[in-house]
Amino acid sequence: MTETLLRGRLLTFHRDPQGADDTEAYTYIEDAGLLMRDGLIAARGTFAEVRAQAPQAPVTDHRPHLMMAGFIDTHIHFPQVQVIASWGAQLLDWLNGYTFPEETRFADPAHAARMAQAFLDLLTAHGTTTAVSFCSVHAASAEALFAEATRRDMRMLAGKVMMDRNAPDGLRDTAQSGYDDSKALIDRWHGKGRNGYVITPRFAITSTPEQLVMAGTLAAEHPECHVQTHLSENRAEIAYTAELYPEARDYLDVYEGFGLLGPKTLLGHAIHLTPREIDTLAETGAHPVFCPTSNLFLGSGLFDAPGLGARGITSGIATDVGAGTSYSMLQTLNEGYKVLQLQGHALHPLNAFHWATRGNACVLGLQDRIGTLDPGTEADVVVLDSRATAAMALRCERAGTLAEELFVLQVMGDDRAIAETYVAGTPRKPATRPLAQQRA
Ligand code: GUN
Ligand code: ZN
Repeated sequence: MTETLLRGRLLTFHRDPQGADDTEAYTYIEDAGLLMRDGLIAARGTFAEVRAQAPQAPVTDHRPHLMMAGFIDTHIHFPQVQVIASWGAQLLDWLNGYTFPEETRFADPAHAARMAQAFLDLLTAHGTTTAVSFCSVHAASAEALFAEATRRDMRMLAGKVMMDRNAPDGLRDTAQSGYDDSKALIDRWHGKGRNGYVITPRFAITSTPEQLVMAGTLAAEHPECHVQTHLSENRAEIAYTAELYPEARDYLDVYEGFGLLGPKTLLGHAIHLTPREIDTLAETGAHPVFCPTSNLFLGSGLFDAPGLGARGITSGIATDVGAGTSYSMLQTLNEGYKVLQLQGHALHPLNAFHWATRGNACVLGLQDRIGTLDPGTEADVVVLDSRATAAMALRCERAGTLAEELFVLQVMGDDRAIAETYVAGTPRKPATRPLAQQRA
């Protein structure tokens, strides 16, 4: 039996706060104990209460830092760790000019293995304990990511992208090989350790109708798997999709027609939606995913989270690295705040931190396993230092409430504010060191 008792301040959510004064939506404990045993949370309470239950457990004292469920990133691209910060293009040129050439390198299992290690180090350095990731078209890329996640006992959702047209040589599968490779990866990895396979047609432009038929077949054969793709990110993308699928009523209708929509479907971006598409999202329970740093970086547009929320549609929030510009969910919430401000809505920090933890877990249907610090769930924990930089420390001198402190973390925080990251009960925040020094 492995036990660790963490001591510090603690915040965990029970539901999305209905307003700034909705204190029943969360538990906040000033001097808390969080007992982790064999990868799970065994107990949570005041330090004195939990200590009495585990008098022998070794204690790690994180006071005065704040313990929270590890962050969940619901849309990110593992093969784009060397694409992030590529200049000057919007979506289609960015894909053709930077991203596709880079992704061809993941045919090499050694490259994929090195990048998988770096990718998971980066996630945990930024406090992210679960990600939903696109891999490259190569089965080897998904193999590398799942193998590395398994070594770290990290809850990882991922899939190789299916893409059989409008992409360079070396970066296309076929309708049949995309199906076969995905099926083999599901058999090999889904449910193994903490891994989940995600059926991943990249987007309508890079799949023939024949391939989307196969993706829909896979989804029907594997209802245990999530499905992820991209939707209505960019005007030129939408226009090209309409040319390629002239029978479809709109972009979302392409995916609907192939049986790809349901509560386990994640749709990256979903910015430029028609009323009919919004109705369909509400009816099918599919989840849009807000990618603020990416949407601003590529000049894609402003995601209407409040409007979709008013229709009962629950959206995820995510980095979308490499079009996204930071691995940090704190920075993602920061940019998300600004995108919503441009639409006249102020995202409250309690809602923001709920979103990056339990909210994203709910979008994935995994709230009984991750996203909270409830006993019986998995011991994925982030420890936040709201005074991590001189500027933050100075600002925090004047932050009198929990909400004010959270907002400082949200606006000014990044990996420097992550004091520790526990993955299944094990401390995993890597020492900061350049990628070049990281060994395969
Ligand atoms: N649409 C299709 N592929 C991608 C991708 O890799 N990144 C983004 N942002 N949008 C996409
Ligand atoms: Zn994406």
